[in-house]
Amino acid sequence: MNIGQEEKYNLHSSWLSWTDMDSFINDWGGTVFVDSYDNTLIDNKGKHYLDLSSGLWNVCLGYSNQSIIASIQKQFEVLPFASNACFSNEPAIKLATKLYEITGYEHSFFTSSGSEAVDTALKMSRQYYYNQGYKFKTGFVSLEKAYHGSTFGALSVCGIEEDKKAFGPLLEDSFQIPAPDCDFCPFKKEKGSCNLECAYALEDLVYEIGTERICSFIAEPILGSGGVIIPPSGYFKTIKRICEKNDILFISDEIATGMGRVGEWLALKKSEVKADLVCMGKGLTGGYAPLSVVLSTSAIYEGFKGINQNDKKFFNHGFTSSGNPIGCVAALKTIEYIEQNDVLTHIKQLEKEIEESLQKISSENSHVKRITGEGLMWGIWFEDRPSKMNPNFNLVEIICYVAKRLNILLFPTNGNCLIIIPSFSFEPTELKLALEKINRILRMVE
Ligand SMILES: Cc1ncc(COP(=O)(O)O)c(C=O)c1O
Repeated sequence: MNIGQEEKYNLHSSWLSWTDMDSFINDWGGTVFVDSYDNTLIDNKGKHYLDLSSGLWNVCLGYSNQSIIASIQKQFEVLPFASNACFSNEPAIKLATKLYEITGYEHSFFTSSGSEAVDTALKMSRQYYYNQGYKFKTGFVSLEKAYHGSTFGALSVCGIEEDKKAFGPLLEDSFQIPAPDCDFCPFKKEKGSCNLECAYALEDLVYEIGTERICSFIAEPILGSGGVIIPPSGYFKTIKRICEKNDILFISDEIATGMGRVGEWLALKKSEVKADLVCMGKGLTGGYAPLSVVLSTSAIYEGFKGINQNDKKFFNHGFTSSGNPIGCVAALKTIEYIEQNDVLTHIKQLEKEIEESLQKISSENSHVKRITGEGLMWGIWFEDRPSKMNPNFNLVEIICYVAKRLNILLFPTNGNCLIIIPSFSFEPTELKLALEKINRILRMVE
């Protein structure tokens, strides 16, 4: 720990993700974190920052959850690693059993990052049909404005064009349909008086491409990085019906929304729909260790057994760290903590607090155009205009910058939308105070 003693770091040595390195050092102060407690991070200059982004949407129980820390320490002493190829390990089995209990999915395929989980689900959906002899059922459908990760497979199904433009060619049989964003209805319909044209766009696309060429449809139950967009009621029921009718697997990407983020273990439960495959990550371990998972129904799992035309049908895929016992005990403890402390109810209480505070922000700031969100995942949308304070930064970046100066951490994800995604361990009054500070920052920036 180097609090207060400024070390001479070579800040260029550790190359940061999604970051202009010169700007990180010259504009953003080259912040280096060295310590943490509760929902606060401390940098090497001794400055404390209240984290309103749950790390990177993953530190859902704060930075000093002693039961998770103790479980990891104990696991390090017993079994720090075990290969998940050809062998299993006790924490992985216990976690899979627990995940079945809370989500209803019988099987867990463990991975490390959200992107790995998405790639795994995409490959699983392809091989599922390959195993049945459908060699051309390889296409993926996803949503415009969707974010599914940064590896080539996950990026191919992303709908944020800016993220993709430097990396083509991506998977060529990846198709997108319009995002179900009622405020910007792609079909120019009035909110609440449409026929879910955005969902039927999947059916139209399937007819155009051919059902024999599409293996899966992937979507986030709430589009996170796209700006916390909540699809209209009935959307996923219609999607699921279309998938079933056309023998297409439905993959729900719950990397951001899972683990209670919106008050349920899985956000899709609110739509009363069960996907065929579910990706979870981020908050799965409370952010204390890297772990993600693809949850599968028995029907899919059974499709990977036996022999097909002299080929074994097992899932020919995995990673060195799949089923890592450290990650698995961290996840088990995270779930146990959430259950024992009735955190899902607490999230619903915090939701009321955050919603009220954001409505106030909206009414007091004319440059706020809309508020979107649910549970502890919210977006404040601004007018699409460059910042007057610094033309190199957009408005959301300026807000994050000023907030950081005032000891609040926010992460600029989406151009016009400031995403607020606090940890579940906030107390209502603490969250209210933090949002009052954000309100003052917005007025200042306006
Ligand atoms: C919905 C969703 N899917 C996938 C990912 C990718 O996760 P990771 O960054 O752990 O690879 C993210 C990350 O933000 C996400 O929000």
